[in-house]
Amino acid sequence: IISLLTITGCGKRVVDLEQVSPEEKIVIKFSHVVAENTPKGLAAQRFATLVKERTHGRVEVQVFPNSTLYKDGEEIQALQNGLVQIIAPATSKLSGLYPQWQVLDLPYAFEDVNAVHEAMSGYIGNRLCDSLKQNNMQALAFWDNGFKQMTNSQRPLVNPADFQGLSFRVMINSQVLKKEFERLNARAVEGTFNDLYRALDSHEVDGQENTMSNIYSKNLYKVQPYLTLSNHGYMGYVVLTNQQFWTGLPEEVREVLESTLVEVTEWEHEQAFILDKQSLEKIVDSGLVQVHQQTEAEKKLWLIMLKPVYSEFKNLIGNDMIDYLEKMHS
Ligand code: LMR
Repeated sequence: IISLLTITGCGKRVVDLEQVSPEEKIVIKFSHVVAENTPKGLAAQRFATLVKERTHGRVEVQVFPNSTLYKDGEEIQALQNGLVQIIAPATSKLSGLYPQWQVLDLPYAFEDVNAVHEAMSGYIGNRLCDSLKQNNMQALAFWDNGFKQMTNSQRPLVNPADFQGLSFRVMINSQVLKKEFERLNARAVEGTFNDLYRALDSHEVDGQENTMSNIYSKNLYKVQPYLTLSNHGYMGYVVLTNQQFWTGLPEEVREVLESTLVEVTEWEHEQAFILDKQSLEKIVDSGLVQVHQQTEAEKKLWLIMLKPVYSEFKNLIGNDMIDYLEKMHS
């Protein structure tokens, strides 16, 4: 079996269609960092299964979960170099190359998931996708995970003062995320997802922010006895491919992949909703965690501390996108 990787010499040049006879198998490596029983993990697997069926085995999507192939900080480079063909990083992780993606990291930017979808299928989504083209990357879809919640090992996080002196792991590359914790007088430490459980278990950091399905599937709740349901930020994914690879695919193959992705994306959004609820239920049932539901009054206090981040990052993110969010809020 000759994979496309072999044919293209790791994607360094456009696939020569004449070299790919219909019988030849096309291998697509899909690398991601989360567990298999998460919205992203399940959707990647479903995509692989459906593509295999629909191309009668001609296309094999090989899914590498749990950072087994590439970790945070490696996967974007690997995609650009053609070592993998699809990745689906949390949008925050694109901020190193494209600071404008931090618009999605702003505190309490979206009221609910519908507001996220509206922004991503409209002005904000278009602006963000356009930015990718300069680096030979192409967005194929936006996948959900959910709203981030706060966990830590020291105390319940109710008022902003509770953050004082604690350290929190944040996703790599986003200055906005770092700044948010600093505004709460906490220390922000960038770290990979792969290392997160260890960093928490060893008390290298006190806490972190994440979605319910990540907190559950990576056992973070077993070493983080305090959980605040704050919904202070959204975590979603951009399914990314190497543009040269994608446009070089035989058209009939690309059409199957694209239509399957549309269908899987809808399914992924449903899974994200379901898993978010189920994961919280399982964590509550474990009895290991003290859960605090943030009140509207507390949210207002957090916002007083966090809101200046909007103006501090206006230039970096873009006035137009910040204005869009502010209009959405009013
Ligand atoms: C994280 O690093 O916390 C998340 O981006 C992991 C993920 O991809 O959901």
